[in-house]
Amino acid sequence: MPSLRKPWHSMAKALILGCLLTGFLLLFYAYLAPLQVNMADPQDETSCSSPPTLPVNTTEGSCQPKMDIVFMKTHKTASSTLLNILFRFGQKHHLKFAFPSGYNDFNYPTFFRRSLVHNYQPGDCFNIICNHMRFFYSEVHSLVTPNATFITVLRDPAHLFESSFHYFGMVVPFTWKLTGHNKLAKFLQNPTQYYNPQGYNAQFLHNLLFFDLGYNNELDPRSPQVEEHILEVEQRFHLVMLQEYFDESLVLLKDLMCWELEDILYFKLNARRASAVPQLTGELYQRATEWNQLDALLYRHFNASFWRKVEAFGRERMAREVANLRRENERMRSICIDGGQAVDAEAIQESSMQPWQPLGTKTILGYNLKKRINQRHKQLCRKMLTPEIQYLIDLGVNLWVIRIFKYIREFLRW
Ligand SMILES: *[C@@H]1O[C@H](CO)[C@@H](O)[C@H](O)[C@H]1NC(C)=O
Ligand SMILES: *[C@@H]1O[C@H](CO)[C@@H](O)[C@H](O)[C@H]1NC(C)=O
Ligand SMILES: *[C@@H]1O[C@H](CO)[C@@H](O)[C@H](O)[C@H]1NC(C)=O
Repeated sequence: MPSLRKPWHSMAKALILGCLLTGFLLLFYAYLAPLQVNMADPQDETSCSSPPTLPVNTTEGSCQPKMDIVFMKTHKTASSTLLNILFRFGQKHHLKFAFPSGYNDFNYPTFFRRSLVHNYQPGDCFNIICNHMRFFYSEVHSLVTPNATFITVLRDPAHLFESSFHYFGMVVPFTWKLTGHNKLAKFLQNPTQYYNPQGYNAQFLHNLLFFDLGYNNELDPRSPQVEEHILEVEQRFHLVMLQEYFDESLVLLKDLMCWELEDILYFKLNARRASAVPQLTGELYQRATEWNQLDALLYRHFNASFWRKVEAFGRERMAREVANLRRENERMRSICIDGGQAVDAEAIQESSMQPWQPLGTKTILGYNLKKRINQRHKQLCRKMLTPEIQYLIDLGVNLWVIRIFKYIREFLRW
């Protein structure tokens, strides 16, 4: 029965790969990460106190573009698209990035430490920090000028949960025992039956935003600490963007940073095929929200403050600027993208344009560059379309862990 063999085959492969990845990362974090942490002098309090980086040339009367920025990259929130914007901005102005070494995150899910920055020396100062991390304010802050701008992105926690469940499910071992067609629905029917807060990678399935921001994702939602943490986020971050209002968020970012329209142009990166995105129905949506109550409280707070910011910016002005951004994005689309839209992985011709896929599926879309692009846009088009991993390599980051993992995947054809 060939029709039955294939799913089994696939599941076996997925399991082997899941185990390998789990084992490998466990080894990596348990063995290599502490080594790196130990190398740093815990007494070392030397921190970056250099003045903000100012642009070489500014025209009079205009504000000065800000160059120092910390982007707390949350998971599954369109943050890869924002990363591309920051990579481009940093390259354009020859800014200094704090990159991790070996991998594309700072030993997530362990807390950020300055010693995890590639080639870190005490006193080092950076302009941009933007890779995945579990946030640790004092450690991050010590690496940038005191005037650096802190930003992050949030997303409706029910949808974030759905996205995380499908993207990371394979690397969260306690989900392997879920059976049936709709594992997400099954999990949400009775989360505590399946969820194990001590389980490997458990954070991906419970209040992921709270966790990424450095807080305890298992807090009782009624605890007074929840409100304290939320207010702390508000104090520390100059702009909290919303994935649902990405264009409005970018306009606020441009305004805050005094950047140009070109700096915030983008194509959606790391997006899923529409057919691979199940709709969360009313009841499931409610359950997902309830299950991620801490994130829901966080989101509610920043959804409100976001619209106050838009109000202060001016609604009409916002509408105008969003229209400008969309028009320019469309123009770039017709200049850069072959066929004008994102395509399935199999249809991507250049390997350097292949996005990283979640284990077990190939649902993440990518792009083909047009064959003929005028000189003026050639560079920008390529940069705007380059997926995160390849862009990091282009920026000189040595991703040896990812490389090994890629060989294993290619070997298993998964
Ligand atoms: C600064 O920019 C202006 C135009 O914006 C240009 O005319 C001028 O030469 C630039 N100066 C320097 C030092 O680059
Ligand atoms: C940097 O921040 C300090 C206060 O922390 C402020 O006095 C100073 O004007 C700021 N500098 C710039 C260039 O924004
Ligand atoms: C966010 O705020 C807007 C405007 O107040 C509101 O219409 C929307 O329902 C809110 N979204 C969520 C998920 O709370």
